[in-house]
Amino acid sequence: MTGRGAGPQPTPDTPSEANTASGGSRWHRPPGIIAAYEAEPWSTRAHTMVRWASIPMETVQQELPSSGEILEIGCGHGLFSLTAALGSEDRRIIGTDIDGAKLIEARRAAQAAGLGQDRLEFVQVESDWRPPVEQTYGAVVIIDVLYLLGIAAALDLTAAAARVVQPGGTLLIKEMDTTRRAKSAWCSTQELISTKLTRVTEGETVELVPLDAIRTVMQEAGLDVTTRALDRHYVHPHALLIGQRC
Ligand SMILES: C[S@@+](CC[C@H](N)C(=O)[O-])C[C@H]1O[C@@H](n2cnc3c(N)ncnc32)[C@H](O)[C@@H]1O
Repeated sequence: MTGRGAGPQPTPDTPSEANTASGGSRWHRPPGIIAAYEAEPWSTRAHTMVRWASIPMETVQQELPSSGEILEIGCGHGLFSLTAALGSEDRRIIGTDIDGAKLIEARRAAQAAGLGQDRLEFVQVESDWRPPVEQTYGAVVIIDVLYLLGIAAALDLTAAAARVVQPGGTLLIKEMDTTRRAKSAWCSTQELISTKLTRVTEGETVELVPLDAIRTVMQEAGLDVTTRALDRHYVHPHALLIGQRC
């Protein structure tokens, strides 16, 4: 592979990770997830179905601690927050987003999945919201949000997220690997369509953030960072940065 920057390189994914944890097709969603969105408009059902198929949600979920408070920043329709809540009944998830309409659907989906506010809560925030340092979490998750913020705000949010990770806790950031040039060019085009034309996704801009820059901010915040490539058999150059606080 050519063109990579300095720093740890993504490790190759194993073939089974291209599919779901159950080993089925990536279109195969767990029954709890299907039931959650069943009563939502077709556009949301289609969007969540395509998102499930485009991202290895189960693989990311397995990096979470099995218990404790987990914050997801930029949760959208709540697909990952629901996956995390359904993945272990000892987790409590708080999902935040700037898009109130998506959160209304996320709350309905949680209710349909039988998850009360004691297990899963969705909170609307302003675009410059940062998690207050007084409240810390066993894990903080940011999936495909940073590229919408512009690089300065993306790195500022990364630092703020790292600050609220408890000792022994984890920061998971799923972004695109900009060094995978062909895949990331396709990705930028697709996201421009989502933000500017169809307006499915709210965001200031579309600017893929170099993984090295995110990794450096996580390390400066005292996290041990490993990088996991999640793009095998996927069109998008998915990469997961896993930051552990000792
Ligand atoms: C591509 S979607 C990803 C949603 C979800 N994380 C997922 O993986 O399905 C990006 C989300 O980030 C949200 N977002 C954009 N800017 C944000 C900000 N400054 N703070 C929090 N969320 C933001 C958008 O409203 C949108 O729901």
